[in-house]
Amino acid sequence: MSQDVTPETPAQAAPTEPQPLADRGSNRAQRPGSPEFLRWITSGWDARPASSATRSPAADHTAARRSALSAQFPGDRLVVPAGTFKVRSNDTDYRFRPHSAFAHLTGLGVEQEPDAVLVLHPVADGTGDDGSGHRAVLYVRPMAGRDTDEFFSDSRYGEFWVGARPTLEDLETSTGIPTAHVDELRDALSKDVGPDGVQVLVVPGADETIEAVVEEIRASEAAGERDEKLAEALSELRLVKDAYEIEQMQLAVDVTIEGFVKMVARLPVAQEHARGERVIEGTFVGHARQEGNAVGYETIAAAGEHATTLHWTENDGPVRAGELVLIDAGVEVDSLYTADVTRTLPVSGTFTEVQRRVYQAVLDAADAAFAAAVPGARFRDIHAAAMDVIAHRLEDWGLLPVPAEVALDPENQHHRRWMVHGTSHHLGIDVHDCAQARAELYLDGVLEPGMVFTIEPGLYFKSDDLMVPAEYRGIGVRIEDDVLITADGNVNLSAALPREPDAIEAWMADLLP
Ligand code: GLY
Ligand code: MN
Ligand code: MN
Repeated sequence: MSQDVTPETPAQAAPTEPQPLADRGSNRAQRPGSPEFLRWITSGWDARPASSATRSPAADHTAARRSALSAQFPGDRLVVPAGTFKVRSNDTDYRFRPHSAFAHLTGLGVEQEPDAVLVLHPVADGTGDDGSGHRAVLYVRPMAGRDTDEFFSDSRYGEFWVGARPTLEDLETSTGIPTAHVDELRDALSKDVGPDGVQVLVVPGADETIEAVVEEIRASEAAGERDEKLAEALSELRLVKDAYEIEQMQLAVDVTIEGFVKMVARLPVAQEHARGERVIEGTFVGHARQEGNAVGYETIAAAGEHATTLHWTENDGPVRAGELVLIDAGVEVDSLYTADVTRTLPVSGTFTEVQRRVYQAVLDAADAAFAAAVPGARFRDIHAAAMDVIAHRLEDWGLLPVPAEVALDPENQHHRRWMVHGTSHHLGIDVHDCAQARAELYLDGVLEPGMVFTIEPGLYFKSDDLMVPAEYRGIGVRIEDDVLITADGNVNLSAALPREPDAIEAWMADLLP
């Protein structure tokens, strides 16, 4: 069950033969295992406090999400694992983070629910939850009693080690989903399975132990192929956000903007440090942990030429006066929704003429993309609008070897040398949300109210790029905002963070000494 559940051999006992490697992880400990000690440590504890569990605000929305999924898989049993711990090194795990589909369907975010599994059991159509054809049950590993050795000796799950886990009743209260012990899962998954009976589908890649259990149980090979349909449906289910999700996205963006304010205020300190980029990153990560759950992705703090490396997360360089610093950062709030915001700022507080020229081109591209982001337009139109501006501006600067209209031909794309990434991606519980959605609903999809995505054009001139004049070399600019499609257009969720060059300079002047 866990790595540490058996108290160690008494310290003085001389091993008679070499211990198997797999058993050596806790060699350092000398935990007593005598019956007297077990009796002693499992007794004498005061009654547990009354439960403080309350219904999560997400619970009012998750039934409708499950119901929409249910309609696509009539008669199938759907298995959505939270996943388990991932080892970081030896016996030390990464902080647990549930699979995004599990978080979306249960509303559970940072709560401790490793190894939990949501199952949608098929029932007669219309008789299930929310009038659907499925009944949800959340299988969890609940808090262990104090009379168990898990209580004190299990470093992954035990209360002494990681704190008290929620009870079945607590989780039922917070999620609004009936709960059962995870030990009942296998029998529950097997019920009525057969060639003419229930088919079991499992989200691939979420939990290999649960996948193996499902493989053993299920009747047909075809079910395995349909696992991918389930993953696709779960991704597509998140393309349009509900009211709770939009509120959480705005919260994530607002907390992220506070983090940008703190990073700007730290720029003078960053300039004093050989790894000034880490000063910036550390400021944001500290803010994210204080005010939210974590960062939604590795922070990019890219000063000077580093800004031309799209995913510069080393962040080990200096921050120099007179250069730009590109900061791409997002707070993930407790519900696991994340912002994804980029600003490119002049370290000293004012843009040089050439920096401003490049910045303005990117801003104009972003504004064109915003104008294209309206209900009824296609997702791909947003990128096309931004690229039209970028190509024409590069033509104006004499950088394109062909006219902009020729470069814009899908077969050519010369301008993409200086912006190789896309302009937009869906955003939500995953920073690159809805990634398994079909192309006809994503890139070729039609924009609908409730969709949330980024608009993030950029221009990146590497310092060794001989195709651009020297004055451009080493300049990288990206401007990234988070956008909500509404009934009559869009809302820039990150509009409170200055993005016009004059507004940035005025904002920074207030924040810098
Ligand atoms: N921060 C990753 C992205 O902008 O897509
Ligand atoms: Mn992005
Ligand atoms: Mn980003």
